Amino acid sequence: MSKPYFIGIDVSTTASKALVVDMQGQVIASKSYPHALSTPRPLWSEQDPEDWWRATSAALRDVMKQVSPDDIAAIGLTGQMHGLTSLDKDGKPLRPAILWNDQRSGAQCEAITEKVGAHKLWHLIGSRLLAGFTAPKIMWLRENEPEVYKQIAHVLLPKDYVRYRLSGAYVADVADGSGFGLMEIAKRTWSDEMLAAFDIPRAWLPELCESPEVCAYVSEAAAAETGLRAGTPIVGGAGDQPAAGVGSGIVEQNQVSLTVGTSGVAFASSDVYNPQPEGLLHHFCAAVPGTWFYMGVMLSAAGGLRWLHDELTPNMSYDELNQQVERVPRGSLGLIFAPYLTGERNPHPDPLARGAFVGLTLRHGVAHMARAVMEGVAFGMRDNLELLRGQGVQPTEAVIGGGAANSPVWRQLTADIMGIPLYTVNTHEGAAFGAAILAAVGAGAYPDVPTACRQLVRKEMVITPDPAGMADYERLYPIFRATYPALKALYADLARFEAS
Ligand code: XUL
Repeated sequence: MSKPYFIGIDVSTTASKALVVDMQGQVIASKSYPHALSTPRPLWSEQDPEDWWRATSAALRDVMKQVSPDDIAAIGLTGQMHGLTSLDKDGKPLRPAILWNDQRSGAQCEAITEKVGAHKLWHLIGSRLLAGFTAPKIMWLRENEPEVYKQIAHVLLPKDYVRYRLSGAYVADVADGSGFGLMEIAKRTWSDEMLAAFDIPRAWLPELCESPEVCAYVSEAAAAETGLRAGTPIVGGAGDQPAAGVGSGIVEQNQVSLTVGTSGVAFASSDVYNPQPEGLLHHFCAAVPGTWFYMGVMLSAAGGLRWLHDELTPNMSYDELNQQVERVPRGSLGLIFAPYLTGERNPHPDPLARGAFVGLTLRHGVAHMARAVMEGVAFGMRDNLELLRGQGVQPTEAVIGGGAANSPVWRQLTADIMGIPLYTVNTHEGAAFGAAILAAVGAGAYPDVPTACRQLVRKEMVITPDPAGMADYERLYPIFRATYPALKALYADLARFEAS
């Protein structure tokens, strides 16, 4: 092999991407094709698995025109987590896949949580059982589409369906497999107890492997369709969040990333399995063998600022809005924003939670509201950081990513609110880059994932907290903390009013 290259494939909710990187982490080629999402009924969110394959194989064909198939040392897969692809005995999809953001299986989650016992279940599966997870969707099929259910022979996650099309193998890695809600996360295996509670046959589930482990090889048929070499090794890979953790170098104890995109994700690596006692964080197997990750999710983060911009200042550029926010003093003249515009996951698992401005006066204008939104989102991320700290994660710094990292005022106030330095990293390809790193480790180019990350992921810009800002926000944080308990009952009343 003249030049070892590694491919990361990302089957996301919006598109499938193929990324080719070299030993230095340089991007050699990248291509993605979109896929559609359908919401045929309220709460439903579905995609056609054939679209994932069509988009992935087209992206692979394109990138393979730029490199020789013999130079690809290994492939890693990542993608949207939790989606249910149900297949018959010949591996044919029986219906559209039911995605991570599909909410139809709330009743099944409640029934299983009651059957197993909440605390026991949280300890086994590392989290509360959420409607987005895979297993309650299988149970929903049994109860609502029995004609589909009785033909099921295999169930796969989205990226693992693409692996199946590439290789014919039914395999999941433990990091993505954690999102089924069927694993004993501490032991990194399927849980007999959870399988019995759901009454799901073990034979339907894919084999589990570790993320950097070679678990399949490109088939002759897939080689002909994609331009890859038959026999190219495929590693386990990981779900999008743990793969993004690898892609931004969050692979060792006390390393933390804060991604303030449409949603907000606080992510940390952990050497021990120690779930949050109330199930208030996701605690899943990480892509580094023998380690776990914690994840706290805000359902609306930078999405909150986009909402304010589109509704209140649609003709203003984001640069202009940022300049106006910079002129507003810290604390927005006593205005607080509760950022729960689409309900919340962590730290308040409450689908009825709503957004709120608390403390408006005649002195406030739209710039104060915009600053309050940025601060409210940062306080929500701080809530998740505190949950991580409660589990023994002690970060001295954190990676900042997502849209907020591009705004100087937002990233500075986030550093002040977190009270630790934040930094950006040189890698901008997120989960797909993480999957390529896992492939490189599987191919033996690096001895392990942390070594690969130390060589490939570098700090770019450091944002140091301002002591005066930290002091101001430490006074405001307890007031922010008090808003959710104060408004919780009203949120439920408002939801009832809206429904009536
Ligand atoms: C993780 C999660 C999302 C999806 C889609 O728990 O629900 O990150 O993987 O991005």
